[in-house]
Amino acid sequence: MEYGKSFYDHFMHPLEKNGLAEAREKLIPQAQGAVLEIGPGSGINLRYYAFDQIDSLSLFDQRIQPTIESFAFPETLSLATTIGTVESLPYEDESFDTVIACLVFCSVPDTQKGLMEIQRVLKPGGRYLFIEHILSDGPILGPAMNMATPLWKQLAKGCHLNRRTDQRIEELDLTIKETHYFMRRSFVWGVAIK
Ligand SMILES: C[S@@+](CC[C@H](N)C(=O)[O-])C[C@H]1O[C@@H](n2cnc3c(N)ncnc32)[C@H](O)[C@@H]1O
Repeated sequence: MEYGKSFYDHFMHPLEKNGLAEAREKLIPQAQGAVLEIGPGSGINLRYYAFDQIDSLSLFDQRIQPTIESFAFPETLSLATTIGTVESLPYEDESFDTVIACLVFCSVPDTQKGLMEIQRVLKPGGRYLFIEHILSDGPILGPAMNMATPLWKQLAKGCHLNRRTDQRIEELDLTIKETHYFMRRSFVWGVAIK
C-alpha cells in the first residue's frame, strides 16, 4: 500500500468518519512538551496538535512524505524529521514527554521491540498516546479478520488485521490511564504513563 495522501487518506475516509477522527480529536491534543510521533505517514494527526503546548516535535518514520514537509508548522516550533524503524530509535533514554504512534504497530515486524523502545525514550511521567486497529473479539468479525490477514498482509505492506497490540501495551512497564474501544472493538485508543 502507498501511504501517500491521495490514496491512503481516501481509503481511510470512512474509518475516520466512523470513529477514528473522534479518537484523534480526543487524543492528540494531549501531546505536550518534547513530542515524538512515530509513523506520522501523510501527517494526518498534525491538524489535531495543540502546538502552543509543544516545545519540540520529532517526526520519525521509514519515509518522510512530502505532505509533512509542506505542512504549515508554527515558525517557532523546534521540528526534526528522522528516518528509521521504531525497533531501533536513535534517541537517548528518557528524551520525550509524549510519544504518539497511531496505526503503526499493525505492520511493525517486531512489536515488542518497538514498544520497548517507546517505553525507553519516554521520560518518567511521560505519556504514550496510541490508536491501533486490533483483532476484534466479535464472533464474526474476529474470525473474518484472522482469515483475511494472510492476503491483506501481502496487499497492505505487512499490515496485520489480527494483532492484539492493546494487550502488548498492557504488558509494558507503563500505567494505562485510559483505553477506549470502538468500531466493534476493532480499534482502540488510549494513554499509558511511564
Ligand atoms: C497505516 S500508516 C499510519 C499513518 C498515521 N499515523 C495515521 O494515523 O493514519 C503506518 C505508518 O507507520 C509507519 N511504520 C510502519 N512500520 C514502521 C516501523 N517498523 N518503524 C517506523 N515506522 C513504521 C509507516 O511508514 C506509516 O507511516
